[in-house]
Amino acid sequence: MRILSGIQPSGTIHIGNYFGMIKKMVEAQNDGELFAFIASYHALTTVKEKELLEKNIFEAAVNFLALGMDPEKSTFWVQSDVKEVLELYWILSNHTSMGLLERAHSYKDKTARGIQANHGLFSYPVLMAADILLYDSNIVPVGKDQIQHVEITRDIANSFNNHYKTDILVLPESKVDEIVATVPGTDGAKMSKSYGNTIDMFGAPKKVKKQVMGIVTDSKELDDVKDHANCNIYKLCELFMNENELAELRQRYATPGEGYGHFKMTLLDKINEHFEPYAIRREKLLNNPKEVYEILAFGAQKARKIAQTKMELIRSTVGL
Ligand code: ADP
Ligand code: TRP
Repeated sequence: MRILSGIQPSGTIHIGNYFGMIKKMVEAQNDGELFAFIASYHALTTVKEKELLEKNIFEAAVNFLALGMDPEKSTFWVQSDVKEVLELYWILSNHTSMGLLERAHSYKDKTARGIQANHGLFSYPVLMAADILLYDSNIVPVGKDQIQHVEITRDIANSFNNHYKTDILVLPESKVDEIVATVPGTDGAKMSKSYGNTIDMFGAPKKVKKQVMGIVTDSKELDDVKDHANCNIYKLCELFMNENELAELRQRYATPGEGYGHFKMTLLDKINEHFEPYAIRREKLLNNPKEVYEILAFGAQKARKIAQTKMELIRSTVGL
């Protein structure tokens, strides 16, 4: 079973990204054959500054490697290092009706938010279909916003297969994980870059401390008994503590004498302790770009071999 995941290189990552996506992806390496790539071509639809794009791609690679992506076990590469995907994108474009793309929510949402409507943005789902179909992916783990893109991929693959009376394009299934709860941000709403309520994964210690200290609570005083169940600090602690530690923390909420500042310090210590080994690995990789680019070149080589074989088949199927 082949699992394929595309990662948007979007700069800073927060603990919502980690628990909602990255951790699951790293664990998926034990469930099947994982193909994971940094969606550098897709990133061009939103990042138009050269230096920023380069930095985001490099840092995404470093972050995923530091957090447990295993380049030997899985195939991990940068999308634009395997250019075959663009050839498939073009071929598939000729089997993609305008109506199919006009119905895409993501395009409508992005243009409504002010991202310039251009052809790259409009045809984004066709490139995503090419990513998925080029590697014969069976399972595509996605967030809810991406389900429609996998449906579009199936539609395109069906049109192609029917037209050429073949079954060479493998129909993928999306996999949406409903179990992972949404990680709350410092204000209790969904943690998201766009809401400015994040706690960064690898932020400077001062910044992370400021983010944790900024968690919104009620205004109970030191001597009040506090309610853990509705407290944003406690909800975040649940991500990092085992049941014994949580029981101890609940006891502290129930006992007058401590304030929210103390609980925030406990959370901060937990966050630092949890991510410290990753942060150390990450620093090493950041200081050794040569090693990172070698790992990516190795991944691209593995991916390209499969992509080239598949493209030979597809080219001969269409008459090229
Ligand atoms: P943001 O909302 O900060 O822009 P993205 O939309 O780039 O985050 O999300 C990247 C990945 O992280 C997605 O797979 C998404 O489901 C996951 N993710 C983001 N925020 C959360 C959260 N608060 N809780 C759980 N998962 C999240
Ligand atoms: N569009 C995906 C996102 O925004 C990223 C992506 C690109 C992708 N190509 C993919 C995801 C192929 C899964 C499969 O998150």
